[in-house]
Amino acid sequence: MTITQDSSAPLIAVVGATGAQGGSVVRALAESDKSYRVRGFTRDATKPAALELSKLGVAVFAVSLVVENEEEVYKAFVGADFAFLVTNFWEHVDINREIAEGKLLIDAAKAGGASGIVWSGLPSISKISAGKFPHVWHFDGKAVVTEYGRQAGVPFVDVQAGSYGVNFINFPFAPVKLADGSFALQLPVSPTTVIPIIDAIPDYGIFVRHVLELPVFPDGGEFVAYAETINVKDLALQWSQGTGKSISLRQITAEEFKQRLESAGLPPHIVLDLSDTLLAWDEFGFPAVPQGLVRSPRKWADYVKDADWSKLLA
Ligand SMILES: NC(=O)c1ccc[n+]([C@@H]2O[C@H](COP(=O)([O-])OP(=O)(O)OC[C@H]3O[C@@H](n4cnc5c(N)ncnc54)[C@H](OP(=O)(O)O)[C@@H]3O)[C@@H](O)[C@H]2O)c1
Repeated sequence: MTITQDSSAPLIAVVGATGAQGGSVVRALAESDKSYRVRGFTRDATKPAALELSKLGVAVFAVSLVVENEEEVYKAFVGADFAFLVTNFWEHVDINREIAEGKLLIDAAKAGGASGIVWSGLPSISKISAGKFPHVWHFDGKAVVTEYGRQAGVPFVDVQAGSYGVNFINFPFAPVKLADGSFALQLPVSPTTVIPIIDAIPDYGIFVRHVLELPVFPDGGEFVAYAETINVKDLALQWSQGTGKSISLRQITAEEFKQRLESAGLPPHIVLDLSDTLLAWDEFGFPAVPQGLVRSPRKWADYVKDADWSKLLA
């Protein structure tokens, strides 16, 4: 473990340190043979995930990183050498709030003295699809923040997370049980649709660590953190092979998919956001996976092998 309190080590300020991405960044830094000081942010320093951070040697810093709390947000970044920034769209599902918070984090990190910012962005699906899929607000907002960061006057790198493997155990992506006892992955996409997949909790952080440990901070860089690209047919096949359960892929229409989301009570704009996200998957291009990572990230088959499926596939 190399998280230190020694003031000669660079101080990395980590947003979302109790969450999937930020937590992964903290653990990747802790595993490095280089020494870091880490300041990890949370709104609740008493929660179990925050206590775990303290045990690792992280300086846990309680702060709510919202625009209404601007003064405290600025204080939070004072003295940071580098900052890892992430926003959580799903907590409020509001693109304008995500953009405002993302910009505030960049401004605060810069004002605090950071000489490099690593931001967890996503591409603009509106732009990639030339306006065909205009509703993917949880991507488009992050792309606005990325553009802002690139003009901010501080070295800025975008490390986008691929699709988490864990998405497929949660509604609306989890397979449904059919009358014959088998399971069907019901998605409004063709079997050949490819996704970049990552087991975010163990692996997202190694991409950020890679960026931080390059000989020169790659200002302007864009990386996508994923272990592999896999089409949804192979995803279902490997899932079946790894669990011994029958999991087929059933292509449903966009309308059927939206009805599932509506009947689960999701707000109308999120129904559009999630359905456009899936429909746009075929429009993605993927920047290359960074070479020279400290270890290989876990592939979907690894995830299938190690996860506990006893409840989901019962
Ligand atoms: N699921 C996917 O496939 C995927 C792929 C790419 C990108 N993403 C993006 O990933 C983002 C979420 O990241 P994650 O998965 O790491 O989230 P997560 O595991 O749900 O954790 C959210 C983190 O954000 C912190 N946080 C939220 N609001 C905060 C606030 N107001 N002040 C301070 N801290 C705050 C939370 O801290 P406390 O609760 O401890 O305060 C927590 O550490 C989303 O924007 C999503 O769009 C997801």
